[in-house]
Amino acid sequence: MTERRKSIHGSWSGRLAFVLAATGSAVGLGNIWKFPYIAGENGGGAFVLVYLVCIATIGIPIMMAEVMLGRRGRQSPINTMRTLAEEAGASHIWRYLGWMGVLAGFLILSYYSVIAGWALAYVFRAASGMFHGATAEGVLSIFGQFTGDPEKLLAWHTLFMVMTMIVVARGVRSGLERAVRFLVPGLFVLLLMLDGYALASGAFDQGLRFLFTPDFSKITANGVLIAMGHAFFTLSLGMGAIMVYGSYLPERTSIARTSITIAVLDTLVAMLAGMAIFPLVFLNGLEPGAGPGLIFQTLPLAFGHMPGGALFGALFFVLLVFAAWTSAISLIEPAVAWLVENKGMTRVHASVFAGIVTWATGLLTVFSFNLWSGFRPLSFISIFRNYTVFDLLDYLTANIMLPLGGFFIAVFAAWVMKRDDSVQELDMGDGAAYRLWYGLVRYVTPAAVLLVFLNVTGLVDFSDLLGMAK
Ligand code: TRP
Repeated sequence: MTERRKSIHGSWSGRLAFVLAATGSAVGLGNIWKFPYIAGENGGGAFVLVYLVCIATIGIPIMMAEVMLGRRGRQSPINTMRTLAEEAGASHIWRYLGWMGVLAGFLILSYYSVIAGWALAYVFRAASGMFHGATAEGVLSIFGQFTGDPEKLLAWHTLFMVMTMIVVARGVRSGLERAVRFLVPGLFVLLLMLDGYALASGAFDQGLRFLFTPDFSKITANGVLIAMGHAFFTLSLGMGAIMVYGSYLPERTSIARTSITIAVLDTLVAMLAGMAIFPLVFLNGLEPGAGPGLIFQTLPLAFGHMPGGALFGALFFVLLVFAAWTSAISLIEPAVAWLVENKGMTRVHASVFAGIVTWATGLLTVFSFNLWSGFRPLSFISIFRNYTVFDLLDYLTANIMLPLGGFFIAVFAAWVMKRDDSVQELDMGDGAAYRLWYGLVRYVTPAAVLLVFLNVTGLVDFSDLLGMAK
């Protein structure tokens, strides 16, 4: 048995702290902002079904693999991959998997922060009573004026990046653990309230039907890739965020049970958000495929018409900001941990440095919604015809880099690492549960990612099999 390694960055106070931090990472804009708008753009039910299947068969097993690798390596993903590869007698090339993760995290955070800035701005818009009695056109025009102004987006993006860097600079325990304790329950309560409102609105059935009646003729090969990419995105997988959180995990915590808990909570939040938003979309004759502005164009309608709407609206956006905050931290943590380990920086220096680079990259997204809103850099490729710079960044990271990262994590955990080592690390014996995990990570995950990739490129075509749209 190998000597147990320790992390130089400290550790969580216990299992609950890890569950909270990992749930905080998983639950974020992905669940409340992104899930509804991509489900809307990709036809609803069939997309949701593919997403749920991916969570169960790819997401949970990969989450277990990431936590396991992190806890065994006890360092930033780059150094963890290097150490574990050495231990398994494999090539040092594996450390580039850590590098790809760092790059993905930084690219994602660059746009994530801009959208989190929208949520920040909406706290004040809701609190001021701006949405009171609003009509669909009114809410659309508030959103259009806001995103059309690069200075405003830049200011809120800057504020959010500063908030993120402050928490990251303070390290693993302080702040982070405490924030999540009231955040997740609070978010549940407010989402349930919005669901209650949607239920009473008269269009609840229509919303549910849109979300949960799978119609494969409404989804394309690209839509399937987007659903799979989102399973990675929403669970924070494929770039080392969960790996680095796992590296702060105490020994003897059940990785399987913990991963399932996190995935279930995360999925619940996304479903509650979808069920609150789509009834409002149909009730107000809005477009389900409206894109990244969807929640900002629908929820204010609910807040504008319910009693106490200014208060609840402000509270909702505050919670959304917190959810984004606890996710943003995990996007940059792998890079910061590496800077501390390899460049001898203090956490404060590392955070400031990483933050400035990310902030500057965020300008690409800021301008995508105004100055460059007509710019479609890859319009010569049919699936990217209408993609702005922001859309491309999101596509590249969520649908290409994360699944690719997940693919290699699976290959490493189930083909490179010794089976005995994963039996020992997962600590659930060598029975049916372990074998199910091993089979999924060894065969199902890599094969699924490959097939979905090939299907998009047209090299493999299972659209006829499922009756999918072309
Ligand atoms: N999961 C978060 C969300 O849904 C976003 C996020 C945080 C993330 N860390 C990540 C996405 C790491 C991919 C990889 O909002």
